[in-house]
Amino acid sequence: MKFKVLLTRKLHDFAINELRKRCQVHIHMGKIPMPKKKLIAKIKGKDGLICFPYDIIDSEVIDAARNLKAISTFSVGYDQIDVKYARKKGIIVSYTPEVLTKTTADLTFALILALVRRIVDGDRIVRQNNWKVIFGAYDFLSTDLNKKTLGILGMGRIGKEVVKRGLAFDMKILYHNRKKLPKKEEKVLNVKYETLNNLFGKSDILSIHVPYSKETHGLVNTRLIKKMKKTAYIINTARGMIINEKDLVLALKRKIIAGAALDVYSHEPIGKTHPLTKMSNVVLSPHIGSSTTETRNEMAKLTIKNLILSLNGKNPIYRV
Ligand code: DGY
Repeated sequence: MKFKVLLTRKLHDFAINELRKRCQVHIHMGKIPMPKKKLIAKIKGKDGLICFPYDIIDSEVIDAARNLKAISTFSVGYDQIDVKYARKKGIIVSYTPEVLTKTTADLTFALILALVRRIVDGDRIVRQNNWKVIFGAYDFLSTDLNKKTLGILGMGRIGKEVVKRGLAFDMKILYHNRKKLPKKEEKVLNVKYETLNNLFGKSDILSIHVPYSKETHGLVNTRLIKKMKKTAYIINTARGMIINEKDLVLALKRKIIAGAALDVYSHEPIGKTHPLTKMSNVVLSPHIGSSTTETRNEMAKLTIKNLILSLNGKNPIYRV
């Protein structure tokens, strides 16, 4: 008998075809995220679930899925899943790290460069044929990255890839992590550990790479932002809720820091009227850290492999 699997969104055709060889597949094609009521109704009787970052897989959903054996998320983040509860119910949870590490680090750097070199402002000038604003020798100035300090909050896989890019731009790298790296690794990576307060105080660019959890919820708040230089920038490609967004908006309005570049937000989509969309000292992207053709293909392959292995009682490639 084939396993019954629910997908809360469509995945690549090759992945669905692969899945159909072994499973009976139900794909939600409507509103994203799949409405909770519908999710609860459709997960009944399913053996496996493929979900995405906006699907809240809480105890209520897990309880509704009496036969569920495996949850495979198409993401490196799994904060949307009540992993503890799933584990208690004997459900294997898997995710897709590694394949998106470099891609997310690239987006982080794209945002850093777009922000400090004012690419978005420049694009507007060209489109509006407003070149006169750049003609003066002192007009339209931006900031160099070389000789600046890049602060990495969270030295996991993605943080370490961002370090490499920072070094290529001749930046000095400081970091803070729950666990300090071994001396030998610090030397190889060319990074120096700082306390959280000092990291915020010393960085010109502060880039967030910690996972979202109870411990990191609202971690970046007014208290920490006030420690930053007036000329400093915050970059977030991790999860929106790690920053207290109201505090950030206030800091940007009051010019407590120079700017921010964000790929993630407290609530997504943020909508047209969100104060961040009215600010010129920010660059915004729509949660696209992993969205390249190559990486999304790899993520799709991995999501399917993880699920099939778990359904067959084997260890998935990446188990949470
Ligand atoms: C992830 O994989 O967690 C990225 O944020 C994309 O959602």
